[in-house]
Amino acid sequence: MPRQPVRIKSGRPGANSRSKYFLDKDGESVFWQHNSQLLVGRKSNMPTMNITPFFSHLQCRECGRQYPKDAIHVCEFDFGPLEAAYDYAAVAKAISRSKIEARPKSMWRYRELLPIDGEPQVGKQTGFTPLVRAHRLAERLGVKELYIKNDAVNFPSLSFKDRVVSVALTRAKELGMDTVACASTGNLANAVAAHAASAGLRSFVLIPSNLEASKVVNSLVYATNVIGIDGPYDQVNRLCSEVAGKYGWGFVNVNLRPYYAEGSKTMGFEIVEQLGWKLPRHTVVCMASGSLLTKIHKAYGEAAKVGLAINTPYSIYGAQAAGCSPISTAIKNNTETVRPVPNPQTIAKSLSIGTPADGYYAIRAMKQTGGTAEDCTDDEIIEGIKLLAQTEGIFAETAGGVTVACAKKMIESGAIPRDESIVLCITGYGLKTQEAIAGHVGQPALIKPNLRAFESLLEQPAPSSI
Ligand SMILES: Cc1ncc(COP(=O)(O)O)c(C=O)c1O
Ligand SMILES: [Zn+2]
Repeated sequence: MPRQPVRIKSGRPGANSRSKYFLDKDGESVFWQHNSQLLVGRKSNMPTMNITPFFSHLQCRECGRQYPKDAIHVCEFDFGPLEAAYDYAAVAKAISRSKIEARPKSMWRYRELLPIDGEPQVGKQTGFTPLVRAHRLAERLGVKELYIKNDAVNFPSLSFKDRVVSVALTRAKELGMDTVACASTGNLANAVAAHAASAGLRSFVLIPSNLEASKVVNSLVYATNVIGIDGPYDQVNRLCSEVAGKYGWGFVNVNLRPYYAEGSKTMGFEIVEQLGWKLPRHTVVCMASGSLLTKIHKAYGEAAKVGLAINTPYSIYGAQAAGCSPISTAIKNNTETVRPVPNPQTIAKSLSIGTPADGYYAIRAMKQTGGTAEDCTDDEIIEGIKLLAQTEGIFAETAGGVTVACAKKMIESGAIPRDESIVLCITGYGLKTQEAIAGHVGQPALIKPNLRAFESLLEQPAPSSI
């Protein structure tokens, strides 16, 4: 750090008048002072240092150092992940339950708690998915008050990833990017492809080459550049980091990750609002990188911090497939060290991340809130998908089967009590992974087109349900 910064500018058009910028002696580093906080960045970042009253800066989760709001994601000092930080006092002053309730029913109704500077530009209809009171599933699981947060019907690409991409691409546009990209286990690729098409951005989606056919078609249709990689997700991700460094594109889950990740908070805000501005006592979330879980935790905390909800106790639980369970295994072994899974083997391909970027923080979130984690076999995933479909009429992809199956196990073991409110986060739509379930739901009955054939069919035993 230089000792004698040279003041180059005080305020700038559109900037808050309490902001000042300084260059160091060699003219390379920029120090940015906002409301008596000192931020550090590079000169090339200057044009992006807009200030809104709410989203103030990026901050290292490890050392707390502050950074400007650019396409950066790790701390230069300790490689800690950068996270969006807000002026919560300003947010609390600006919003209220009634103001939010009067806004359009989309994820952007919580705009003051999202990391963008201007107006939302991408995914204006994304979010505000149903929170369903699940009486029949509650009865089957033997619990009193159960809800399904149903992001299987999130718009437009039918998974919660539409939320993260809406924020990342809005920010990409604010940063002047024309090409966006991602490393994906399938759903993120679908969301990037769909949103980029509607936003007029060029896009590249990199995926493991063995994904489900629907996930591949659901990217190709938008005329994105789909690149299948012969290797597991971790290798796809490594390649993406290299490409991001070389080409400067906006990789939503690499250099735009601080913005992308915040989009997941909206699932948490919606749950709180849809419960009548109350925090649920127990929330079950499936995990790949672990980011969604950490952001639901952050959302509950923020809802209380800005006065939207009362700060009541809550616990968050993670769910993984046994064939790729680095986070739940760490929890079970009572360690915060996440051991990578080099070669994930499960039908829950969307959750197959062997080296979870947010694993450590997910473990901390579960431990801090008194939650825990569970994992389940492929057979249990299939049973979970069928149970949800046959009790609530909701067809979830394999990740949803993981959530239901693990919730069932945690209820049966007593880890989740039966007499308090429970929310299961269902994150993707069932037709996306139909090959996982197709052989397990029977076949249509085939008859001649006459009443006699129909009636003799009725006399046969009904197909079995689970
Ligand atoms: C359907 C679905 N649910 C949950 C997740 C987990 O997301 P995260 O990486 O935030 O843990 C993913 C990740 O790809 C997903 O596709
Ligand atoms: Zn740091």
